[in-house]
Amino acid sequence: MVNSVQKAGASPAQWSSRFAFIMAAVGSAVGLGNIWKFPYITGENGGGAFVLVYLGCIAIIGIPIMMAEVMLGRRGGKSPIGTMQVLSRAEGRSRGWVGIGILATLASFLILSFYSVIAGWTMPYIVSAASGELSNISAETSGALFEGLLASPGQLLLWHSVFMGLTVLVSAGGVRHGLERAVTKLMPALFVLLLILVGYATTTGHFGEAVSFLFRPDFSSLTAEAVLVALGHAFFTLSLASGAMMAYGAYLNKKVSIVRTSFTVAILDTCVAMLAGLAIFPVVFAHGLAAGEGPGLIFVTLPVAFGQMPGGSFFALLFFVLLLFAAWSSSISMLESLVSHLHERGISRVKAAIGGGLVAWLIGITTLLSLNVWSDFAPLSMFERFEGKTLFDLYDYFTANIMMPLCAFLTAVFAGWVMKPEHSAAELGQRWHGVWYAVMRYFTPIAVLIVFYTNLG
Ligand code: PFF
Repeated sequence: MVNSVQKAGASPAQWSSRFAFIMAAVGSAVGLGNIWKFPYITGENGGGAFVLVYLGCIAIIGIPIMMAEVMLGRRGGKSPIGTMQVLSRAEGRSRGWVGIGILATLASFLILSFYSVIAGWTMPYIVSAASGELSNISAETSGALFEGLLASPGQLLLWHSVFMGLTVLVSAGGVRHGLERAVTKLMPALFVLLLILVGYATTTGHFGEAVSFLFRPDFSSLTAEAVLVALGHAFFTLSLASGAMMAYGAYLNKKVSIVRTSFTVAILDTCVAMLAGLAIFPVVFAHGLAAGEGPGLIFVTLPVAFGQMPGGSFFALLFFVLLLFAAWSSSISMLESLVSHLHERGISRVKAAIGGGLVAWLIGITTLLSLNVWSDFAPLSMFERFEGKTLFDLYDYFTANIMMPLCAFLTAVFAGWVMKPEHSAAELGQRWHGVWYAVMRYFTPIAVLIVFYTNLG
């Protein structure tokens, strides 16, 4: 089978090296999921036991699925939809398997629509930090600042539009120069900054409390829903089941070890999430804030921490700029599945990126309205499970808890049962193939099904 790698230059997005792929994949994986979502869902789901389940999901489901997706992407050499077309044909199987590509593309597209709204929140914080507004800010003022932002559709729309514009810009131009160059510098910088924040967190006097909150499991507080949330988040944080890794895999050189690379990406991603937790919870506890505060957690707590640090405004500025970049390098990968697919169908990348970005932007408007004007609009309240969930809550719920697990399940079945083992071994190498193959056939699909089933029960 012809691999995309032999056609280098055909697409504006070709990684120049393994390092570049790792940085792009880490750029995709590390984002709001690690720094914004992980701490707040950990807070909402009671801490330690949830973290342990999450780590388990990353290790035994996330990493093997990541290998499967990169493997399928590299073998198919096209957009996730194109790749599934190529592979189902090559395996002599039903075209219905293209559904994996379609589901993945839809999931990442829907995620992009609300991701952009949240990523937009970083920008008014950049402005506030630069103007010194955050220095010595109290927990109450910080809470009020955040509430004020959410209550303003105009502000949210402005920043959502700017962020979507940035995403479209890079996506239209191709990722090699802009993205590749940016992520290789920004990801290490983000890492160092998180370490500094953790250093500060150790001085709050509540570090030990945070460590035991994060790492001492209390299984009595663990619900079936929390397990599903942990699984969904494992997919979300690793950019799985949404086409990103498959799309990026298509640009990956044949010589690169998929197994090693996947481990590296997953470990770096997990480290960032843990560091974010260790930076945030000591501050939360020190200021008597609620761990289960919800989506505002980092936006309310971190300014308080920064406000009290010497040079805090500068660090706050740096932090929100880096968070913006981390979100940016993720959002680009969300658009990639669709843009590369449209490009294959003869539409220019520029047009595809603008068209895709525009539709995601429009859907994003319904998310930003859910935060204020439509905050009482819960269209699926007739179902107990969805009671009180706004449109934004529903997008988040459906993507992370339904579409991604379903897509991951189908991917595992395809990689483990439909594809010939010689074909997957040719990509993954003989050394690790046996273990991976057994996991993909028996463990992953069953584990995902059990989590689903338990949750429905
Ligand atoms: N992994 C990203 C994060 O943790 O913020 C989110 C993400 C990126 C999800 C790309 C899906 C995707 F395709």
